[in-house]
Amino acid sequence: MEGKVAIVTGGSSGMGKAMAKKFAEKGAKVVITGRTIENLEQTKQEIQQQEGQVLCVQMDVRNPEDAKRMVEETKRAFGGVDYLVNNAAGNFICPAEEMSVNAWNAVINIVLNGTWYCSQAVGKEWIAEGRKGSILNMLATYAWLAGQGVIHSASAKAGVLAMTRTLAVEWGKKYGIRVNAIAPGPIDNTGGATRLWESEEAARMTLESVPLGRLGQPEEIANLAYFLLSPEAEYINGECVTMDGGQWLNRQPF
Ligand code: HXC
Repeated sequence: MEGKVAIVTGGSSGMGKAMAKKFAEKGAKVVITGRTIENLEQTKQEIQQQEGQVLCVQMDVRNPEDAKRMVEETKRAFGGVDYLVNNAAGNFICPAEEMSVNAWNAVINIVLNGTWYCSQAVGKEWIAEGRKGSILNMLATYAWLAGQGVIHSASAKAGVLAMTRTLAVEWGKKYGIRVNAIAPGPIDNTGGATRLWESEEAARMTLESVPLGRLGQPEEIANLAYFLLSPEAEYINGECVTMDGGQWLNRQPF
């Protein structure tokens, strides 16, 4: 990744932060985006302490104009973009029958629409420049399984899975742009961990569901993200790689 430019949305915490740090460690110039400038600045300092180059872009992925500005600011600072990781997400547990219109829209707008706005803004830039960039989307295994209390997120992530495959074919064929995804299982120190497994009971059941008997670490996701974006994965396109300790295969048949 030496000299490459990587944008990580939601890059100030959790898996986004781990990915940004990994890419910087591997020589990339990283752009981290998020809504809260204090969080972005804190992560920026941590990356700079590793002597990495980093730009913060305060934005909301729900706003298509923000996505365009993200690309413009990146170009101004670093000359262009090579990689986009659509990591920004929104989620909370809510029974389907109680979900308000705003609650539904909040998550659909962040996860599905936000991924699209950022992908299109970056993709158009690559197409105009003839650059063969690579996109990585963050999913969840309930995109193809099911999850209790996450009808909004599961629907949005299923859409992102379809987007991953569709763009991989359409942009792969015409422009050599690769689009892949990672479906993380339960990962420690993330927004998902604090929101979805906050009760002791939920945390215990989650651990029991993972054959390897532990949570994943954000750094493990970052290692996979690094590989999928790198030239070593140049023939991987339209794929979703699950990293969950075997959790999704471990559903009890009865
Ligand atoms: C029911 C809720 C709710 C809850 C919010 N809402 N939290 N409804 N239960 N716990 C409703 C609100 O009442 C409101 O509807 C609507 O959602 C919008 O809420 P706001 O707070 O105004 O929205 P906003 O400030 O834009 O915040 C968006 C958010 C928030 C999604 C609600 O949680 C957020 O910003 N999250 C970002 C970080 C995050 O969630 N990370 C976790 C990702 S984990 P009304 O009708 O009252 O107006 C993940 C995958 C995990 O994605 C995979 C695991 C395997």
